[in-house]
Amino acid sequence: VTNSTDARAIGIFDSGLGGLTVARAVRDAFPGESLCYLGDTARVPYGTKSATTVTAYAREDIAFLLRHGVKAVIAACNTVSAAALPGLADDYDVPVIGVVEKGADAALARDEGQADGHPRKIGVIGTETTVGSEAYVRAIARRSPEAQVLQKACPLFVPLIEEGWLDHAVTREVVREYLTPMRADGIDTLILGCTHYPLIAPLLADFFGPGVRIVDSARVMAIALERAFRKGVILPAPTGGEARINYFVTDRYHRFRDLATAFMGGDCIDVQLVASDELVAGSVAW
Ligand code: DGL
Repeated sequence: VTNSTDARAIGIFDSGLGGLTVARAVRDAFPGESLCYLGDTARVPYGTKSATTVTAYAREDIAFLLRHGVKAVIAACNTVSAAALPGLADDYDVPVIGVVEKGADAALARDEGQADGHPRKIGVIGTETTVGSEAYVRAIARRSPEAQVLQKACPLFVPLIEEGWLDHAVTREVVREYLTPMRADGIDTLILGCTHYPLIAPLLADFFGPGVRIVDSARVMAIALERAFRKGVILPAPTGGEARINYFVTDRYHRFRDLATAFMGGDCIDVQLVASDELVAGSVAW
Protein backbone atom coordinates (compact mmCIF):
# COMPACT_ATOMS: atom_id res chain seq x y z
CA VAL A 1 0.00 0.00 0.00
CA THR A 2 1.38 3.35 -1.00
CA ASN A 3 0.25 6.85 -0.29
CA SER A 4 1.55 8.18 -3.57
CA THR A 5 -0.77 9.90 -5.96
CA ASP A 6 -0.69 10.79 -9.63
CA ALA A 7 -2.72 13.74 -10.91
CA ARG A 8 -2.37 12.80 -14.58
CA ALA A 9 -5.51 11.84 -16.48
CA ILE A 10 -6.59 8.35 -17.46
CA GLY A 11 -6.76 8.02 -21.23
CA ILE A 12 -9.75 6.31 -22.82
CA PHE A 13 -10.03 5.67 -26.53
CA ASP A 14 -12.68 4.25 -28.76
CA SER A 15 -13.58 4.15 -32.42
CA GLY A 16 -16.19 6.83 -31.75
CA LEU A 17 -18.85 7.61 -29.23
CA GLY A 18 -19.58 4.10 -27.92
CA GLY A 19 -16.71 4.37 -25.47
CA LEU A 20 -18.72 6.98 -23.61
CA THR A 21 -20.43 4.03 -21.87
CA VAL A 22 -17.00 3.15 -20.51
CA ALA A 23 -16.12 6.77 -19.70
CA ARG A 24 -19.33 7.05 -17.71
CA ALA A 25 -18.71 3.82 -15.79
CA VAL A 26 -15.16 4.96 -14.99
CA ARG A 27 -16.27 8.46 -14.02
CA ASP A 28 -19.02 7.09 -11.76
CA ALA A 29 -16.62 4.68 -10.06
CA PHE A 30 -13.74 7.18 -9.77
CA PRO A 31 -15.16 10.71 -9.78
CA GLY A 32 -11.85 12.16 -8.61
CA GLU A 33 -9.95 11.01 -11.70
CA SER A 34 -9.34 13.25 -14.70
CA LEU A 35 -10.09 11.61 -18.04
CA CYS A 36 -8.84 12.21 -21.56
CA TYR A 37 -11.21 10.69 -24.12
CA LEU A 38 -10.33 10.15 -27.76
CA GLY A 39 -13.13 9.15 -30.13
CA ASP A 40 -11.84 8.25 -33.58
CA THR A 41 -14.99 9.45 -35.30
CA ALA A 42 -13.15 9.85 -38.62
CA ARG A 43 -12.36 6.16 -38.90
CA VAL A 44 -15.31 4.51 -37.16
CA PRO A 45 -16.32 1.68 -37.45
CA TYR A 46 -13.42 -0.47 -36.32
CA GLY A 47 -15.63 -3.53 -35.97
CA THR A 48 -15.71 -4.32 -39.70
CA LYS A 49 -11.98 -3.81 -40.27
CA SER A 50 -9.12 -6.32 -40.18
CA ALA A 51 -6.99 -6.91 -37.12
CA THR A 52 -4.03 -5.33 -38.98
CA THR A 53 -5.91 -2.10 -39.61
CA VAL A 54 -7.41 -1.98 -36.12
CA THR A 55 -3.94 -2.49 -34.63
CA ALA A 56 -2.47 0.36 -36.68
CA TYR A 57 -5.32 2.64 -35.58
CA ALA A 58 -4.92 1.60 -31.96
CA ARG A 59 -1.21 2.45 -32.00
CA GLU A 60 -2.00 5.93 -33.28
CA ASP A 61 -4.78 6.42 -30.74
CA ILE A 62 -2.53 5.32 -27.87
CA ALA A 63 0.36 7.52 -29.09
CA PHE A 64 -2.03 10.49 -29.16
CA LEU A 65 -3.14 9.88 -25.57
CA LEU A 66 0.45 9.44 -24.42
CA ARG A 67 1.35 12.80 -25.94
CA HIS A 68 -1.38 14.19 -23.71
CA GLY A 69 0.44 12.80 -20.71
CA VAL A 70 -1.96 10.13 -19.48
CA LYS A 71 -0.98 7.74 -16.69
CA ALA A 72 -2.85 4.75 -18.14
CA VAL A 73 -4.79 3.91 -21.28
CA ILE A 74 -8.13 2.16 -21.41
CA ALA A 75 -9.03 0.58 -24.73
CA ALA A 76 -12.77 1.05 -24.41
CA CYS A 77 -13.35 -0.44 -27.84
CA ASN A 78 -13.90 -4.19 -27.61
CA THR A 79 -12.70 -4.61 -31.18
CA VAL A 80 -9.34 -3.11 -30.19
CA SER A 81 -9.18 -5.20 -27.00
CA ALA A 82 -9.95 -8.37 -28.91
CA ALA A 83 -8.04 -7.92 -32.15
CA ALA A 84 -5.12 -5.61 -31.35
CA LEU A 85 -4.22 -5.46 -27.67
CA PRO A 86 -2.63 -8.86 -27.13
CA GLY A 87 0.13 -7.81 -29.55
CA LEU A 88 0.77 -4.30 -28.32
CA ALA A 89 -0.16 -3.78 -24.67
CA ASP A 90 3.40 -4.56 -23.53
CA ASP A 91 4.98 -1.97 -25.82
CA TYR A 92 4.20 0.96 -23.55
CA ASP A 93 5.51 2.40 -20.31
CA VAL A 94 2.01 3.00 -18.95
CA PRO A 95 -0.58 0.26 -18.40
CA VAL A 96 -2.84 -0.35 -21.39
CA ILE A 97 -6.02 -1.97 -20.17
CA GLY A 98 -8.39 -3.97 -22.34
CA VAL A 99 -11.70 -5.59 -21.58
CA VAL A 100 -11.45 -9.19 -22.74
CA GLU A 101 -9.59 -10.82 -19.85
CA LYS A 102 -11.66 -9.11 -17.18
CA GLY A 103 -14.81 -9.83 -19.16
CA ALA A 104 -13.94 -13.53 -19.13
CA ASP A 105 -13.33 -13.36 -15.36
CA ALA A 106 -16.67 -11.66 -14.81
CA ALA A 107 -18.48 -14.15 -17.04
CA LEU A 108 -17.06 -17.14 -15.18
CA ALA A 109 -17.70 -15.78 -11.70
CA ARG A 110 -20.55 -17.72 -10.18
CA ASP A 111 -23.49 -15.96 -8.68
CA GLU A 112 -24.30 -16.76 -5.13
CA GLY A 113 -26.47 -19.80 -4.92
CA GLN A 114 -25.47 -20.95 -8.40
CA ALA A 115 -24.74 -24.67 -8.48
CA ASP A 116 -21.06 -25.59 -8.71
CA GLY A 117 -19.74 -28.18 -11.11
CA HIS A 118 -22.29 -27.41 -13.80
CA PRO A 119 -20.47 -26.67 -17.10
CA ARG A 120 -20.99 -23.09 -18.15
CA LYS A 121 -22.56 -21.96 -21.38
CA ILE A 122 -21.53 -18.41 -22.21
CA GLY A 123 -22.78 -16.29 -25.09
CA VAL A 124 -20.54 -13.61 -26.59
CA ILE A 125 -21.87 -10.90 -28.87
CA GLY A 126 -19.79 -8.21 -30.56
CA THR A 127 -18.65 -6.80 -33.88
CA GLU A 128 -17.54 -9.05 -36.73
CA THR A 129 -13.87 -8.43 -35.97
CA THR A 130 -14.28 -9.10 -32.23
CA VAL A 131 -16.13 -12.35 -32.85
CA GLY A 132 -13.72 -13.35 -35.65
CA SER A 133 -10.72 -12.82 -33.35
CA GLU A 134 -12.08 -15.48 -30.97
CA ALA A 135 -10.36 -13.53 -28.18
CA TYR A 136 -13.19 -14.16 -25.71
CA VAL A 137 -13.33 -17.85 -26.67
CA ARG A 138 -9.62 -18.23 -25.88
CA ALA A 139 -9.78 -16.16 -22.68
CA ILE A 140 -12.66 -18.29 -21.37
CA ALA A 141 -11.01 -21.58 -22.46
CA ARG A 142 -7.81 -20.65 -20.59
CA ARG A 143 -9.81 -20.24 -17.40
CA SER A 144 -12.36 -22.98 -17.86
CA PRO A 145 -11.67 -25.48 -20.64
CA GLU A 146 -15.02 -27.19 -20.09
CA ALA A 147 -17.05 -24.00 -20.57
CA GLN A 148 -18.99 -23.81 -23.80
CA VAL A 149 -18.88 -20.51 -25.68
CA LEU A 150 -21.40 -19.48 -28.32
CA GLN A 151 -20.54 -16.42 -30.35
CA LYS A 152 -22.61 -14.23 -32.62
CA ALA A 153 -21.56 -11.12 -34.50
CA CYS A 154 -24.34 -8.53 -34.40
CA PRO A 155 -23.20 -5.84 -36.87
CA LEU A 156 -26.59 -4.12 -37.07
CA PHE A 157 -26.69 -3.31 -33.36
CA VAL A 158 -24.18 -0.44 -33.53
CA PRO A 159 -26.07 1.58 -36.19
CA LEU A 160 -29.42 0.91 -34.49
CA ILE A 161 -28.05 2.12 -31.16
CA GLU A 162 -26.45 5.17 -32.78
CA GLU A 163 -29.85 5.91 -34.30
CA GLY A 164 -31.17 6.01 -30.73
CA TRP A 165 -33.43 2.99 -31.28
CA LEU A 166 -32.75 1.58 -27.85
CA ASP A 167 -36.28 0.37 -27.25
CA HIS A 168 -37.68 0.05 -30.72
CA ALA A 169 -39.64 -2.64 -32.51
CA VAL A 170 -37.01 -2.87 -35.25
CA THR A 171 -34.22 -3.38 -32.72
CA ARG A 172 -36.28 -6.07 -30.99
CA GLU A 173 -36.77 -7.80 -34.32
CA VAL A 174 -33.04 -7.69 -35.10
CA VAL A 175 -32.29 -9.10 -31.64
CA ARG A 176 -34.73 -11.91 -32.31
CA GLU A 177 -33.17 -12.61 -35.72
CA TYR A 178 -29.59 -12.72 -34.45
CA LEU A 179 -30.03 -14.30 -31.06
CA THR A 180 -32.91 -16.78 -31.20
CA PRO A 181 -30.49 -19.72 -31.77
CA MET A 182 -28.34 -18.61 -28.82
CA ARG A 183 -31.40 -18.34 -26.59
CA ALA A 184 -32.58 -21.77 -27.74
CA ASP A 185 -29.18 -23.19 -26.81
CA GLY A 186 -29.76 -22.15 -23.23
CA ILE A 187 -26.80 -19.92 -22.32
CA ASP A 188 -26.43 -18.95 -18.65
CA THR A 189 -24.35 -15.79 -19.23
CA LEU A 190 -24.14 -13.21 -22.01
CA ILE A 191 -21.05 -11.05 -22.54
CA LEU A 192 -21.88 -7.72 -24.14
CA GLY A 193 -18.62 -7.53 -26.08
CA CYS A 194 -19.08 -4.09 -27.57
CA THR A 195 -19.04 -0.54 -26.23
CA HIS A 196 -22.54 0.18 -27.50
CA TYR A 197 -24.42 -2.81 -26.18
CA PRO A 198 -24.89 -1.66 -22.55
CA LEU A 199 -27.41 0.79 -24.03
CA ILE A 200 -29.67 -2.08 -25.11
CA ALA A 201 -28.97 -4.23 -22.04
CA PRO A 202 -32.62 -3.91 -20.84
CA LEU A 203 -33.89 -5.09 -24.22
CA LEU A 204 -31.46 -8.03 -24.24
CA ALA A 205 -32.32 -8.92 -20.64
CA ASP A 206 -35.95 -8.93 -21.66
CA PHE A 207 -35.26 -11.21 -24.62
CA PHE A 208 -33.13 -13.73 -22.71
CA GLY A 209 -35.14 -13.66 -19.51
CA PRO A 210 -34.04 -13.68 -15.88
CA GLY A 211 -32.02 -16.93 -16.14
CA VAL A 212 -29.26 -15.26 -18.16
CA ARG A 213 -26.73 -13.07 -16.42
CA ILE A 214 -25.49 -10.13 -18.47
CA VAL A 215 -21.85 -9.04 -18.31
CA ASP A 216 -21.56 -5.42 -19.33
CA SER A 217 -18.09 -4.55 -20.63
CA ALA A 218 -18.32 -0.91 -19.47
CA ARG A 219 -18.73 -2.04 -15.88
CA VAL A 220 -16.02 -4.65 -16.36
CA MET A 221 -13.64 -1.81 -17.29
CA ALA A 222 -14.40 0.05 -14.09
CA ILE A 223 -13.69 -3.16 -12.16
CA ALA A 224 -10.40 -3.66 -14.06
CA LEU A 225 -9.39 -0.13 -13.13
CA GLU A 226 -10.32 -0.69 -9.50
CA ARG A 227 -8.01 -3.68 -9.47
CA ALA A 228 -5.17 -1.71 -11.11
CA PHE A 229 -5.49 0.93 -8.35
CA ARG A 230 -5.59 -1.71 -5.65
CA LYS A 231 -2.47 -3.40 -6.97
CA GLY A 232 -0.68 -0.06 -7.28
CA VAL A 233 -0.31 -0.46 -11.06
CA ILE A 234 -1.95 2.96 -11.37
CA LEU A 235 -1.77 5.61 -8.67
CA PRO A 236 -4.94 7.49 -7.79
CA ALA A 237 -5.44 11.22 -8.24
CA PRO A 238 -4.77 13.31 -5.14
CA THR A 239 -7.93 13.87 -3.12
CA GLY A 240 -9.39 17.35 -3.37
CA GLY A 241 -7.90 17.94 -6.81
CA GLU A 242 -10.05 19.10 -9.70
CA ALA A 243 -11.15 16.26 -11.97
CA ARG A 244 -11.37 17.32 -15.60
CA ILE A 245 -12.62 15.46 -18.64
CA ASN A 246 -11.17 16.41 -22.01
CA TYR A 247 -12.80 15.06 -25.15
CA PHE A 248 -11.09 14.76 -28.50
CA VAL A 249 -12.60 13.55 -31.76
CA THR A 250 -10.98 13.02 -35.15
CA ASP A 251 -13.99 14.24 -37.11
CA ARG A 252 -16.75 16.67 -36.32
CA TYR A 253 -19.45 14.11 -35.73
CA HIS A 254 -22.53 16.20 -35.01
CA ARG A 255 -23.93 13.92 -32.36
CA PHE A 256 -20.83 13.57 -30.27
CA ARG A 257 -21.22 16.69 -28.16
CA ASP A 258 -24.93 16.09 -27.52
CA LEU A 259 -24.36 12.49 -26.61
CA ALA A 260 -21.39 13.26 -24.41
CA THR A 261 -23.47 15.90 -22.62
CA ALA A 262 -26.45 13.57 -22.22
CA PHE A 263 -24.21 10.77 -21.02
CA MET A 264 -21.83 12.51 -18.73
CA GLY A 265 -24.09 15.25 -17.43
CA GLY A 266 -22.91 18.79 -16.90
CA ASP A 267 -23.63 21.78 -19.06
CA CYS A 268 -21.67 22.16 -22.20
CA ILE A 269 -19.01 19.63 -22.82
CA ASP A 270 -15.88 20.86 -24.53
CA VAL A 271 -14.91 18.68 -27.47
CA GLN A 272 -11.74 19.38 -29.44
CA LEU A 273 -11.11 18.33 -33.00
CA VAL A 274 -7.87 16.48 -33.71
CA ALA A 275 -6.38 17.21 -37.12
CA SER A 276 -5.83 13.98 -39.05
CA ASP A 277 -2.10 14.61 -39.47
CA GLU A 278 -1.84 15.17 -35.72
CA LEU A 279 -3.11 11.67 -35.03
CA VAL A 280 -0.88 10.00 -37.58
CA ALA A 281 2.18 12.16 -36.87
CA GLY A 282 2.41 10.84 -33.37
CA SER A 283 2.74 7.28 -34.52
CA VAL A 284 5.82 7.91 -36.64
CA ALA A 285 7.96 6.43 -33.89
CA TRP A 286 6.34 3.12 -34.78
N1 DGL B 1 -16.37 0.45 -30.37
C1 DGL B 1 -16.64 -0.74 -31.15
C2 DGL B 1 -16.52 -1.98 -30.24
O1 DGL B 1 -16.66 -1.90 -29.04
C3 DGL B 1 -17.99 -0.70 -31.81
C4 DGL B 1 -18.08 0.30 -32.94
C5 DGL B 1 -17.15 0.02 -34.06
O2 DGL B 1 -17.34 -0.96 -34.82
O3 DGL B 1 -16.18 0.76 -34.21
O4 DGL B 1 -16.26 -3.06 -30.73
